[in-house]
Amino acid sequence: MLNLSGKVALVTGSTRGIGRATAERLAQAGATVIITGRSEDRAVEVAKEIKEKTGSETFAVSMDIGVKESVEEAFKRISERFGSVDILVNNAGMTRDTLFLRMKLEDWEEVIRVNLTGTFLVTQQAIKGMIKKRWGRVINMSSVVAFMGNVGQANYSSAKAGLIGFTKTLAKELASRNITVNAIAPGFIETDMTDVLPDDIKESYLKQIPAGRFGKPEDVANVVLFLASDLSSYITGEVIHVNGGLF
Ligand SMILES: NC(=O)c1ccc[n+]([C@@H]2O[C@H](COP(=O)([O-])OP(=O)(O)OC[C@H]3O[C@@H](n4cnc5c(N)ncnc54)[C@H](O)[C@@H]3O)[C@@H](O)[C@H]2O)c1
Repeated sequence: MLNLSGKVALVTGSTRGIGRATAERLAQAGATVIITGRSEDRAVEVAKEIKEKTGSETFAVSMDIGVKESVEEAFKRISERFGSVDILVNNAGMTRDTLFLRMKLEDWEEVIRVNLTGTFLVTQQAIKGMIKKRWGRVINMSSVVAFMGNVGQANYSSAKAGLIGFTKTLAKELASRNITVNAIAPGFIETDMTDVLPDDIKESYLKQIPAGRFGKPEDVANVVLFLASDLSSYITGEVIHVNGGLF
């Protein structure tokens, strides 16, 4: 049931971190995986590495999820090659942290544009094919901060909270087409995104995590695999927290 042979999976922002681990996990399960990032060269490199490691087919395409034309161009290439996508993992995301009083409109707009509007743009392209095929999986990467809030992340926590409403609404609109739409809310996962945080901040997070460790990208990738598989076919509009007990 965790065999994804014959399925085409697109993971946004899959050249590193959680996205890369997810792409690899889906490829291990037999899916054809489309690696995307803003740099085509990097996507090609990662696609090659994952193919060598897993034996599954991979395809690389550059896509800036925050730019409509870039998303449309990428989907043109994807549909020429594969027709459509069966599994969409909306993973790409970014932060621009600063205290709210100092937050510039650009900091707000950029984070909303990429994390929230980007997910809208990619999903709208991807679900057309799923609707035709009457099978699909959409998995959105939210965050624990959508539920807890976080100092310095008014923009990011708003975007990630927006993804929860988006997930629940799409789940209702698409359930009758046999498409499930779920979200994952990771806690503190060790990637480049969290690597930049000062050590004292990391230590204070660690104290709040009952499991006593930070998460690894694979901890999230495993949940994506479950949500992409037939094992989860009666779960939709749900949020799965992956945070070692933090929330
Ligand atoms: N690391 C954590 O602790 C954590 C916690 C909760 C949620 N998340 C979310 O998980 C997802 C993956 O994060 P990560 O920790 O692997 O971070 P990361 O920074 O290593 O990876 C994010 C990826 O998204 C890509 N990206 C950023 N802007 C993009 C754009 N406009 N178009 C296309 N790609 C873009 C980056 O290039 C990168 O490959 C993000 O949505 C992030 O918000 C991470």
